[in-house]
Amino acid sequence: MVVNAFEVSGKIDYTKLVDKFGSNLISDSLMDKLEALTVGKGRVPRMHRFLRRGMFFSHRDLDTLLRQVEAGAPMYLYTGRGPSSQSMHLGHLIPFLFTKWLQDALDVPLVIQMTDDEKFLFKGHYDDQTGDNLLDFQSLTMENARDIIACGFDYNKTFLFSDLDYVGSMYPNIVRIWKAVTTNTVNGIFGFDGSSNIGKIAFPAIQAAPSFASSFPVVLEADRNSNHLCLIPCAIDQDPYFRMTRDVAHKLVHKQHGLGGKPALIHSKFFPPLQGAEGKMSSSNTNSAIFLTDSPDDIERKIKQHAFSGGRETKKEQQELGADLEVDVSYQWMRFFLEDDDELEKIGQDYGSGSGEYWNTGKVKGRLIEILKELVAEHQERRATITDEEVRKWMAERSIVKNST
Ligand code: TRP
Repeated sequence: MVVNAFEVSGKIDYTKLVDKFGSNLISDSLMDKLEALTVGKGRVPRMHRFLRRGMFFSHRDLDTLLRQVEAGAPMYLYTGRGPSSQSMHLGHLIPFLFTKWLQDALDVPLVIQMTDDEKFLFKGHYDDQTGDNLLDFQSLTMENARDIIACGFDYNKTFLFSDLDYVGSMYPNIVRIWKAVTTNTVNGIFGFDGSSNIGKIAFPAIQAAPSFASSFPVVLEADRNSNHLCLIPCAIDQDPYFRMTRDVAHKLVHKQHGLGGKPALIHSKFFPPLQGAEGKMSSSNTNSAIFLTDSPDDIERKIKQHAFSGGRETKKEQQELGADLEVDVSYQWMRFFLEDDDELEKIGQDYGSGSGEYWNTGKVKGRLIEILKELVAEHQERRATITDEEVRKWMAERSIVKNST
């Protein structure tokens, strides 16, 4: 298994990963605490299915953060996206769907970083004839921003920014982080070496900076004396950035800050590619992913042809043994996207035992196709209404705190 900020592959053992990274599994008592502060406050009807089903499964300091928020400390959410492709896929949606729920459930401001700078440094190019493609990444930011806004965030409490555009306000904190972290540390965490361009080595500080409220003097009306706590929902492959951040955090805040400046984290597992429950979905293999731009026919074809089946070879075997749900991609995807717990359980029971309405792969794929056609169509409808002008409004530096309670 390989999991780092640049590669996810192999069969992932999440318990081992938590051990290796040094984060913590979300315990039942922490889940109860989170439920009390969200569902208990009447802001959301139930815990998100990603929590009910263990997709968000690991954390750092979430317990301490919740205790302090309960006692009245201000907090905000921070997440982000590297805009590397024109069209986002279902896997990219996971952290944003969950962040939207957290925003509602906790009623807090949210900042979303678009790392167009990162994607240029890692994937961009320079050509002697045609120049470089930096600005392509900036336009991908605008495209992806529309998909993110379409997830339903609250405009009054959300600030979306492109690094290329907003970096100035964060710069004092970026410089502080640069000063606090050595090249050896960054190389150790991210695997860079002397042949890496110097932007790669500098970039982790730019992803770290939004973890500090003082990077948002206007947006969060914060300064270095602020007590704001930061919670970062992200896939667990982003954890290395925030381990680095947490190690130097005390240098960026005042001595009384509740978490010594450290951002808290809540980590998700990866969304499996169509071909099988290993690694994570990738944009570069179009048959491994369902894109938010796919047509109903694309969705149907990809799932029918490519979704890895845990079903058996013959009808007889399927009826005797049932499907292997662990490796069955259609079933695993339903765990992410089918909201109804009772229906999911029935499908699991039928398919896993080879009997009843959903006894075989065809039936299960059919239901998944319905679910995803609906989800993608609704997303496309919302996205179509979002103009460039609208995106610019979300990206305008403005206070997002006065509207929060
Ligand atoms: N590096 C992330 C990516 O490539 C983008 C990102 C920036 C991010 N800041 C973040 C992701 C905070 C999660 C949380 O997609």
